[in-house]
Amino acid sequence: MKFETPATTNPIDRLKLIGKPTDRIDGPAKTTGTAPYAYEHHDAVPHQAYGYVVGAAIAKGRIKSMDTSRALAASGVLAVVTSANAGDLGKGRFNTARLLAGPDVQHYHQAIALVVAETFEQARSAAQLLDVSYTRDQGVFDLAAARDTAVPSDEQQDVAVGDFASALAASAVRFDESYTTPDHSHAMMEPHATIAAWEGEKLTLWTSNQMINWSRGDVARTLGLSKDNVRLISPYIGGGFGGKLFIRADLILAALGARAAKRTVKLSLTRPLIFNNTTHRPATIQRIRIGAGHDGRITAIGHECWSGNLPGGDIENAIQQTRRLYAGAHRMMAARLATLDLPEGNAMRAPGEAPGLMALEIAMDEMAERLGLDPIEFRVLNDTQVDPENPQRPFSQRQLIACLRNGAERFGWNRRQRKPASVRDGGWLIGMGVAAAFRNNLLTKSGARVRLGGDGMVTVETDMTDIGTGSYTIIAQTAAETLGLPLDRIKVRLGDSDFPVSAGSGGQWGANNSTSGVYAACMKLRETVARTLGFDPTETDFSDGRVRAGNRDAALADAARDGELVAEDRIEYGDLDEQYQQSTFGAHFVEVAVDAMTSEIRIRRMLAVCAAGRILNPKAARSQVIGAMTMGAGAALMEELAIDKRFGYFVNHDLAGYEVPVHADIPHQDVIFLDEVDPISSPMKAKGVGELGICGVAAAVANAIYNATGVRVRDYPITLDKLI
Ligand code: MOS
Repeated sequence: MKFETPATTNPIDRLKLIGKPTDRIDGPAKTTGTAPYAYEHHDAVPHQAYGYVVGAAIAKGRIKSMDTSRALAASGVLAVVTSANAGDLGKGRFNTARLLAGPDVQHYHQAIALVVAETFEQARSAAQLLDVSYTRDQGVFDLAAARDTAVPSDEQQDVAVGDFASALAASAVRFDESYTTPDHSHAMMEPHATIAAWEGEKLTLWTSNQMINWSRGDVARTLGLSKDNVRLISPYIGGGFGGKLFIRADLILAALGARAAKRTVKLSLTRPLIFNNTTHRPATIQRIRIGAGHDGRITAIGHECWSGNLPGGDIENAIQQTRRLYAGAHRMMAARLATLDLPEGNAMRAPGEAPGLMALEIAMDEMAERLGLDPIEFRVLNDTQVDPENPQRPFSQRQLIACLRNGAERFGWNRRQRKPASVRDGGWLIGMGVAAAFRNNLLTKSGARVRLGGDGMVTVETDMTDIGTGSYTIIAQTAAETLGLPLDRIKVRLGDSDFPVSAGSGGQWGANNSTSGVYAACMKLRETVARTLGFDPTETDFSDGRVRAGNRDAALADAARDGELVAEDRIEYGDLDEQYQQSTFGAHFVEVAVDAMTSEIRIRRMLAVCAAGRILNPKAARSQVIGAMTMGAGAALMEELAIDKRFGYFVNHDLAGYEVPVHADIPHQDVIFLDEVDPISSPMKAKGVGELGICGVAAAVANAIYNATGVRVRDYPITLDKLI
């Protein structure tokens, strides 16, 4: 189905099930422990052996020698896979470093070997018997030191609109500051894990992966297989945040280990390997310059970003929100990439915008103060309803001002004292901060298959994944709404590459695109049903489990009396993305308390107001935003991968050392969704919300800390030592 804009009234608009805060249909399976995660498909294939992955002990250099004989002789060991016996390995499209090193080592804890044994303990113990010696080269591990070597990237052209330098020089009020954000880890709960089974040339992988079709292709490319011979199964995922968008060493090594041992092999990356072997969000250095008139209108805006990655890796595109968020005739944006020998940098929740807004939205707060304006009024003054780089191109919807105003009202912004460090509560200094939220809404084709059985049950099949977001539930709501059925008539099957290719889970595009694909398939099923019953498809109504046209009336199940009806379709958008700028907007409000003696920082209240199209399930969406706000609080106050700059690895490579917020760190959180319907986005009229929720949060915290204390910190995380 080609999506034609604007979307007209369609069965989704009945809103009997869509838009309702339905509980998760997969909730009981998860809470009773019966939903199988990657490592838990114990019965899928009998007689599973265990793999243990060994990571490189250097960040850059070569493996001089590796003696595997003692490991191979150890009890229970079935095989040891290294680059010496792995065969010819190619590289997938999405990974920067090879997933099995040797002889060259590209980063610390790059996999160098897999030991396969009868039990996990035997594999782990034999792994200690590998005798490896290295030649260590000096790598480059410090972004600040490598900054001057950075070059433009293929991913992001420089932006030059008008004459930035002259306009800035001529501005009545000028601003120029730099900000830094550290390397972040996804730190999802479920580790990367895979069970691999071969049947001749056919490879089946039970795994934990956000993008089934991308990863199926990358496994095939890496192992030199035909894509048809690779099957990925990933029905449940215990968190991804971008860390499971792509294949990692677990998939490739499980497959190689299973081939070498002639057994089904299961393995999980250990927690330390997740930090240095998989991907992370790269650190950034950002310089922001703003020029404005005394009236508060921005005339010139410039944003430069420096980040690093391995050779072949890409930038952290922290300038992308600045291209669209505020008006200003003269614009300059540039992103530069330095070569570093740290582990691979890649997408993490709201890649680009999350760290970009951590800098931009402090800068906006600083500039508002310099202009003597309230930070909300400054943002409102510089709103734009068209793409600032191309005024012919409107936003499909843009309610940033409404988010700010609505939030200010709800949060009690009028109680904020503009002068910093002027509110006390006993020994605590109290402050409020605000930041805008922005994240693009991406459209991508997405398919599904629906089956109507003679029992009246409908089964939806798509390779869409549920990474804890609620995909199962919103897909069931969509199918039920479109076919006029109660929710309990729908069975949803996800995360299997045998099913039609979907949008997958990434970039907050999952919900809108995957449900649109399910809608398309259900609309096709409606036609098939009407034809089978001999009804005129154009006048057939589907509701309450019945099908009606004129004075004819049948149960939906009647259409499948003589055999199951199957329909498959996908949603496609053509070049809609080019005609309209599609983005989601929000405003974050934070109140903090800072201990006047110790500088301990406590977040007291958080509020997010989001404008993100139709909200398909407000309960699931609220959970997404609350989770994202929590992640933003972590980015503001605690998250940082500490680099050993001599040896080039992340030192705090476990959940004890890599600090994320716990319940006691997070206060009352509130989320408001504006009542928005976007007929340009899809037949669902929805957008994404899972990444919008983190965008701007850390800056709102930083701005609240400034308001509380008068100390401006431009280097994340804002730990208490930076306030003293
Ligand atoms: Mo997201 S970083 O595309 O999972």
